[in-house]
Amino acid sequence: MIYPHVPVLASEVVHYFSECQCRYVVDGTLGAGGHAELLLQAHPEIELFIGIDQDPTALAIATERLAPWKEKLCLLRGNFSQLESHLKAVGVDKVQAILLDLGVSSMQLDQAEKGFSFMREGPLDMRMDPEGPVNAFEVVNSYSETELGRIFKLYAEEKQWRAIAKLLVQEREKAEIKTTTQLSEVLMPLLGWKRSRGINPMTLVFQGLRIYVNRELEVLENVLPKVIDHLTPGGRAGIISFHSGEDRIVKKALQHAASDKHDTEGNGRGLFLDKTPTVRIVTRKAVSATEEEINLNPRSRSAKLRVMEKI
Ligand SMILES: C[S@@+](CC[C@H](N)C(=O)[O-])C[C@H]1O[C@@H](n2cnc3c(N)ncnc32)[C@H](O)[C@@H]1O
Repeated sequence: MIYPHVPVLASEVVHYFSECQCRYVVDGTLGAGGHAELLLQAHPEIELFIGIDQDPTALAIATERLAPWKEKLCLLRGNFSQLESHLKAVGVDKVQAILLDLGVSSMQLDQAEKGFSFMREGPLDMRMDPEGPVNAFEVVNSYSETELGRIFKLYAEEKQWRAIAKLLVQEREKAEIKTTTQLSEVLMPLLGWKRSRGINPMTLVFQGLRIYVNRELEVLENVLPKVIDHLTPGGRAGIISFHSGEDRIVKKALQHAASDKHDTEGNGRGLFLDKTPTVRIVTRKAVSATEEEINLNPRSRSAKLRVMEKI
């Protein structure tokens, strides 16, 4: 069967985990199970493979794909931010490998009813977890101009964040903005099809809303210390991000964990107290996709992989 989502940096992921003797593995972003399948093939020693996804459709697809390993699988619906309770539920404390391949899958982008893409007409939803507390419709139609501006500045990193927020507030007075198409039609006169940093600004706006709706940056920031806590010594974690805000969070968390100093203020101006490093950074620089991969799978162009090893 051909799966619509192609795993990014696939050979790199396999390479960085190749030295791990993996008894227990966590894939916190199972998706279509592409990376999971590769890891299960490469590590016959795996006894338990814990796959987590907040999207029930992804879990259904991965369950089918990973059926050859069903005795080793434990697939859970939920957020990886609850890593501790997921591990507790399956009676495991420490694992040898953890993978997080952040963001949405191609399958989710292709599902018009999820509302992730301005290329497909659908309701303004954007929740990966269909039971998530806030959807994009509520954000676009009820948040204040200031709150909207903050979302487009922080999460979309779009230069025109102020103008976007103002325009949305003006336009929703005339009629509610209910669909992805309506949202892009409202913003088109302002953003046009210009490219900023090689990316369509509409992509950035939709990405920003999605990141806010799913609390993607907060969840990532909170889970990284837990990822480190739950690795065995010598165990590795790989994180693939697609957004500079995410990559900054990963880089900072890794640098902090690998450092033998703790900055009490967290801004370079506090006291630098001694601490014991908990990880070694395996990838000195973030690993990006090759030209060849980008040509085959344009989604990989912004992917960045960082890997750490527990000391
Ligand atoms: C980029 S896809 C992963 C694709 C997967 N690595 C593969 O090879 O098929 C990301 C998946 O992670 C899920 N996801 C994103 N953030 C999550 C979170 N905080 N908790 C659980 N699942 C999450 C999404 O629903 C999506 O299915």
